[in-house]
Amino acid sequence: MGKLRWYFAPCSPGLEGLLAEEVAVAGGTRIRQDRGGVSFQGTHDVGYRLVLWSRVAIRVLQELARARVGGPDDLYTMAHRLPWHKLMGTSRTFAVYSAVSGHLVRHSKFAALRVKDAVVDQLREQTGDRPSVDTDQPDVPLKITVRGPVATLSRDLAGDSLHRRGWRPIQVRSPINEALAAGLLQLTGWDRRSPLCDPMCGSGTFLVEAAHLAADRAPGLRREMALQRWPDFDEPLWTSLLQEAEERFAAGRRNVPALVGNDHHAGALAIARDSAERAEVAEHIQWHQSDVRDFRPDPTPATVVVNPPFGVRLQPDALAETWGRLGDFLKGLSSRVGDDDRQIMAWLLSADPELTHPLKLRSDERVAVVHGGLDCRWIRYPLGGALPPR
Ligand SMILES: C[S@@+](CC[C@H](N)C(=O)[O-])C[C@H]1O[C@@H](n2cnc3c(N)ncnc32)[C@H](O)[C@@H]1O
Repeated sequence: MGKLRWYFAPCSPGLEGLLAEEVAVAGGTRIRQDRGGVSFQGTHDVGYRLVLWSRVAIRVLQELARARVGGPDDLYTMAHRLPWHKLMGTSRTFAVYSAVSGHLVRHSKFAALRVKDAVVDQLREQTGDRPSVDTDQPDVPLKITVRGPVATLSRDLAGDSLHRRGWRPIQVRSPINEALAAGLLQLTGWDRRSPLCDPMCGSGTFLVEAAHLAADRAPGLRREMALQRWPDFDEPLWTSLLQEAEERFAAGRRNVPALVGNDHHAGALAIARDSAERAEVAEHIQWHQSDVRDFRPDPTPATVVVNPPFGVRLQPDALAETWGRLGDFLKGLSSRVGDDDRQIMAWLLSADPELTHPLKLRSDERVAVVHGGLDCRWIRYPLGGALPPR
């Protein structure tokens, strides 16, 4: 049994409950939800499992030290005490990122500098060598957080943000981030076995994430993680976790239901197709190019998810027209549901309550989430049918 450590995994606000469940599945204990993240305890295998399997975490931070501090010099002392030859060594690059609030340590950059100096000084005293800093892709990304009088120094297991799954070919305009898309999908309660569609799919984020959910594919499966470059990297454990993830994907991909995407923009669909290919789920997703009003998904979906246009780029009239067309599409679906059928559940992301009026539909549930820094609502519209959802 390895050493028990504390961890903190940040996520998009509104997804903490889902992340807490993921942490429990990974074997974490003493799980606590805060706004924008979850803290927990676990041995190193819990961190490894979470960084490979979490769909909603943005990072997984392993705590190295925590202390009450009175000023920046205490940060130096706290960092200087740690066994850096075991945690990092001198042949690897590192970087210190910081987040500071409160009056004791006023400048975030200064906090990072004190920690960096402590690491370099201590390794040089012990080994005669000094490690190099690389802020682009450090082998050992460190994070110093100061909240009021408490400072926490941690190592970031992934390095890069976990929403970057590695399958998006290029940076596209207004996509929804992968971790938020995976979280929103799970908030719908979609059973992962019935058909799902996105009628304004853009670069296809919802559909690729839905395919991964249904296929039981680990989001971190093809990603390189910073932890693989650490001196205490447990390679046998990581290899066995990857092997298990491969087996689960091979079995799970036989169970993926029909997933259907539509957009009127050919360029967006080209990116979506490319993404699905790179994400190894191309055969599970059908793509259509039409105006949303003319889109007739086949088979009829049980769940609709959509992130319609909103924001500053479009004129209010054009937005109202677009949302009206989306409303027509949803009412068309409603009419395909017979009296004995289950209702179709449509979920829409909206930053602006005004925008939903042209839909001319009644919602029955709203969840507060954050997308692109904006407070949004993930809104449910039950369509047609007499029976409530399973
Ligand atoms: C906010 S983006 C969706 C982003 C998407 N969730 C992603 O992850 O890339 C809205 C999308 O709606 C599409 N769209 C706007 N009006 C449309 C219409 N009338 N019919 C079909 N698609 C439309 C746009 O082309 C755009 O791709």
